[in-house]
Amino acid sequence: MTELNILENIDWDFAEASTNSTTNSMHPYPAKFIPQIPNHLIQQLTKVGDTVYEPFLGSGTTAVEANVLGRNAIGNDVNELAVLISKVKTTPVSNKRLQNLDSLLNKIYKHIELLYSEKKNNIEIPDITNLNLWFIDFVIHEIVIIKQEIEKLADEDIKDFCLVALSGILVNVSRQDSDTRYVRVTKNINHFDTFNKFSKQLNKLRKIMIASSENIKNGTSVFKVEDSRTEHIFEENVADIAITSPPYPNAYDYHLYHKYRLFWLGMDPLKLRKLEIGAHADYSKKNGPNEFDFMRDMEKCMLNTSKILKKGSFFILVIGNSILKGRHIENNKILQQAAEATPFNFVTEFTRNIKLNRKSFNPKIGNIKQEKILIFENLK
Ligand SMILES: C[S@@+](CC[C@H](N)C(=O)[O-])C[C@H]1O[C@@H](n2cnc3c(N)ncnc32)[C@H](O)[C@@H]1O
Repeated sequence: MTELNILENIDWDFAEASTNSTTNSMHPYPAKFIPQIPNHLIQQLTKVGDTVYEPFLGSGTTAVEANVLGRNAIGNDVNELAVLISKVKTTPVSNKRLQNLDSLLNKIYKHIELLYSEKKNNIEIPDITNLNLWFIDFVIHEIVIIKQEIEKLADEDIKDFCLVALSGILVNVSRQDSDTRYVRVTKNINHFDTFNKFSKQLNKLRKIMIASSENIKNGTSVFKVEDSRTEHIFEENVADIAITSPPYPNAYDYHLYHKYRLFWLGMDPLKLRKLEIGAHADYSKKNGPNEFDFMRDMEKCMLNTSKILKKGSFFILVIGNSILKGRHIENNKILQQAAEATPFNFVTEFTRNIKLNRKSFNPKIGNIKQEKILIFENLK
């Protein structure tokens, strides 16, 4: 297996690598891959025209790298926002279509100016649970205006592009502490701050898209909002490789971190809460799930992934350890055990050391120093 020998010689730490130069910085997403991991795997283990499957799509890092390298991408995630971000990152849009954004920003600015100059306003506040606990009134008004103008756009791709820009600033202008901390804090936010942040974000995304559009054209992408435990998400035998970083047990709460983003975008955080694997909110409960529940969930995902993959192809999972009720859980071992009930044969694993300053990791709920890169072969 010469490809696997090559993988052994890769320095998986990527200690010097910058993660902010590509589409990777288009939207915050907790525990996203650094692009170098899927990039090297795709380069070494597939060829141009192949199809790469990502069963825990997240912010689409694997899919972007697949497209840039001329491979097609398919993927799913239970988080509707994940699918939207991934779609936007992999949909090329021309400079011409992006130029129209200046007039969008002008319209929004005038509308907000009018709101503050008149004493009355006729803004219709969306019916979102506890919205005013998490957002200052005038911030809500500015978001409503921004959203209304975006919704009027006729170009669906540009509309999604703008929604991702808006989503990207929402935690910042809310009272939520950070992208991985769902706690209310006081922030100093003034009139027009929301608009200014949106405008800056839109311009940042526009630059990234102009730089990346040519490269992502090299492959196609199809994404679905689906639970990886369900069968038949994609047809059988269509993918040449699967690469993913699955959720860890007790590590993250995507339904909480993204709760108000999802509400604002008309998506459903309650559905995500029910289907999300590994949520800290569940695993930390007295009678909550344990590592064996996680193993059974991953077994289902692996069985489905085996069907989507062609015979003899690889499934690569990148995972670190968890802490569960004070116990250290070696998730790489759990995945190996899960695989025993599936057609996957464990081939090898590599260890990578993670830079401790990586912001997407919350040191309180997991061992964040190392990740394992597990390679399985599909022997179906
Ligand atoms: C570690 S993140 C993946 C990050 C991704 N590799 C990236 O670069 O952005 C794990 C993902 O699994 C998703 N997830 C959790 N439970 C799921 C399920 N039952 N089916 C599909 N996706 C799920 C979460 O929404 C989250 O996006």
